[in-house]
Amino acid sequence: MAPLRVLELYSGVGGLHCGLTESGASAEVVAAVDVNTIANEVYKHNFPSTPLWPKSIEGISLKELDALSADMILMSPPCQPFTRIGLRGDVSDPRAKSFLYVLEILPRLQKTPRYILLENVKGFESSEARDAMIRTLESCGYIYQEFLLSPPCLGIPNSRLRYFLIAKLQAEQFAFQTTNTVLEEFPSADISDHGCSSSAPCLGGTLQPDADAKSLLSPRQCPEGAVLYKLETAEQLHRKLNQDNDASVQRLQDFLEENVEIRQHLLPPKSLLRYALILDIVKPTCRRSTCFTKGYGHYVEGTGSILQAATDVEISSVYKSLETLSDEEKLAKLSTLKLRYFTPREIANLHGFPAAFGFPDEITTKQRYRLLGNSLNVHLVAKLIALMLRSPRSNSQNSV
Ligand SMILES: C[S@@+](CC[C@H](N)C(=O)[O-])C[C@H]1O[C@@H](n2cnc3c(N)ncnc32)[C@H](O)[C@@H]1O
Repeated sequence: MAPLRVLELYSGVGGLHCGLTESGASAEVVAAVDVNTIANEVYKHNFPSTPLWPKSIEGISLKELDALSADMILMSPPCQPFTRIGLRGDVSDPRAKSFLYVLEILPRLQKTPRYILLENVKGFESSEARDAMIRTLESCGYIYQEFLLSPPCLGIPNSRLRYFLIAKLQAEQFAFQTTNTVLEEFPSADISDHGCSSSAPCLGGTLQPDADAKSLLSPRQCPEGAVLYKLETAEQLHRKLNQDNDASVQRLQDFLEENVEIRQHLLPPKSLLRYALILDIVKPTCRRSTCFTKGYGHYVEGTGSILQAATDVEISSVYKSLETLSDEEKLAKLSTLKLRYFTPREIANLHGFPAAFGFPDEITTKQRYRLLGNSLNVHLVAKLIALMLRSPRSNSQNSV
């Protein structure tokens, strides 16, 4: 059987490619397309034999696409038009133009791809772009299923709630019953092979900044065992505790690098002083972390969790009466926690990138954070591709 011919659009550093490989599908990426030169350097470094087209998607002609004869399209279009925080320009945002071009060209292809997987941010499910995509898929004869999934459902201690769609041509059925609702967990027939329980939704904790996040709790209002003298709501603390007690999720320590040069990754004093009360601090024994965004390592607020490297220091003793101290004293106390950023490799580990995945030496740490912040969870993609390819009767994978 010939391997499936896969077109990877908006390829970035190749998270979708890694997911395809991990899914075990007999498949070959026949073209990857992205305009970002830095992302393309990383892609080439990891997939030297994959044809990489460093051009804009709307610049690809129908003829070029027909020549690819793709069986599958994998794509993660830019998310800025659909993010919940921001202007939410949707289809009128210029960054949605290339995606609308994909929708326009899909019905005109000589050979309609049998499979499509799309990843985007939460918020896409209620966008006009999503509605346009569904109309196109239905008119081309696809069946599809939409999801909102986050890595904790696969036992990964990192929140990254994302929209996914898998679609296949109607001639082939899914191995599960599709529904019009957006699934927040893997379908039950697919639970067994990745330890996802049907009662455990895949949403994970997203710990988005709450509107009332500014309410300073007094210690007695806090849930037992979570006496943090920080700006956190009771709800946030409850969520953290629940996540940390969920033994189906691995501990962060399983994803950390050995022998990290801590000094290189410590938060600078200015950030410590300015953001001490809003940092999301986790220990290696925690079973959660917040979503790492492209500003991680550069901006502090809401860009991802910070690791407490000094594990023997009691965080509550550091935060107690912090407000009453001078800056110098505050800094001295906070420094005992050895608060550091997760390294790019550690974030790649949480995203599920294989150990062999790497960056060319010339890619700076800031660029690595940026690229990883734009990327996705490889394990979730792998499970979805495997689910998409599975046929109902044989419960084996389809092939060409
Ligand atoms: C959400 S990121 C995709 C990340 C990718 N899945 C990964 O694992 O790294 C979106 C990507 O689309 C690329 N992009 C945005 N607009 C584009 C366009 N019009 N043509 C080609 N690539 C585009 C960006 O450079 C970025 O790398």
